[in-house]
Amino acid sequence: MRPDCKFSNGFLWGTATSATQVEGHVNNEWTDYVAADGGHCRIACNHYHLYEKDVQLMAGLGVNAYRMSIEWSRLQPRPYAPLNKSELDRYTHLLDCLVAANVTPMIVLHHFTNPPWVTQWGGWLNPATIPAFADYVTKLAAVLKERVFLWNTFNEPDTYASLTYLLGAFPPFRKWHFRDYHRVVRHMAQAHLLASDAIRRHSNGGRAPEIGIAKNWTVFEAFHPLALWDRAMAGLSHHLFNRFVANSFLAGRRRDASTYLGLNYYGRTRLRNFQALIPIAGAPEARLNELGIVCDDMFERHPPGFGKLMKRLQRLYRLPIYITEHGTASTDDNFRIQDLDRHLFELRGAMDDGVDVRGFFYWSLMDNFEWHLGYTKKFGLMSVDFNDELLPRKMTRVGEFYRDVCTAAIRGAPWDT
Ligand code: FCB
Repeated sequence: MRPDCKFSNGFLWGTATSATQVEGHVNNEWTDYVAADGGHCRIACNHYHLYEKDVQLMAGLGVNAYRMSIEWSRLQPRPYAPLNKSELDRYTHLLDCLVAANVTPMIVLHHFTNPPWVTQWGGWLNPATIPAFADYVTKLAAVLKERVFLWNTFNEPDTYASLTYLLGAFPPFRKWHFRDYHRVVRHMAQAHLLASDAIRRHSNGGRAPEIGIAKNWTVFEAFHPLALWDRAMAGLSHHLFNRFVANSFLAGRRRDASTYLGLNYYGRTRLRNFQALIPIAGAPEARLNELGIVCDDMFERHPPGFGKLMKRLQRLYRLPIYITEHGTASTDDNFRIQDLDRHLFELRGAMDDGVDVRGFFYWSLMDNFEWHLGYTKKFGLMSVDFNDELLPRKMTRVGEFYRDVCTAAIRGAPWDT
């Protein structure tokens, strides 16, 4: 590691969660879903009731930022309805607890879930969802403008649109509906423009708002560089999931709606004879080991791709970057620590080379409901005992490692992990 490294004072060291994955007691399209491991999100980590304690855990972790989503379905029971007062009070109290603990909130407005009435409308396929979302954001920004300046409108529109309409893993579980995939991304991109306007309109007083999306960016490559079909498929995947989506939000004048780019980075997918060589696509671990591919329980790890990507994105879109998510799913803490260390090294390197990165949010504060995969994927800095109804959280060794990094960096001490 580079012992002389320092991070600027304002750099945000955070963790991330999303409402449906941690809160419990939600009423959206995931409520009745049961994952393959029997898990559902009805209680999740019960962050809904335990949030004050969870903020204390964040303070113990030494972080100075927290990326969380606000659950639209809690606040607007009907289209264009006034926001639900008691749910709003709960969120504002959570925000006040964060501020009291010196933790800066970044608010995600859409993290994969919708109110039931949006689902009935056909979700993001229906253009009527766009102004309805803008109405929600207008009302929310009016209330939160004093407490929040960091806004993330959409989390991973590519993941949402592909898992709903291409890969059949998220409700409504459709497969290979390419037109629907494009339509959803385009509608979300339009909604981002309106949401950005709404947030700006409401933030005349305090600190100027920062607005962006979080783009999940996978590096796609052929396993054998000379295999033409795999190269073609990697190129196509890159276009479909990366370029098309990022350009829908950021190309040309649309870029003006964002003040930063959020990057979620989980690694690389290599293709071999049309097969994706990652555990989450069903590639057997033994086979991946034979091929020398280093993976966590979901994806191939690829730290050098992280550094290159930050440089490339800055060149392409000329916006400051927040790493809105990065993490590993594994029960092997040594593996996770090493992985984090390597990615932080890349982060530091990219910043030394002039990339304007403003923050890093580790996915996730605690183990949680990993959508269609249930509770089998362990991403937490805190582990959670889901067999105990009190859902106790426990610091992991990765958590301790991250705490040491954050504490030293925030103190301005040389970074020497
Ligand atoms: C990201 C999602 C997040 C979580 C992590 C592991 O794609 O934004 O909700 O599922 O992956």
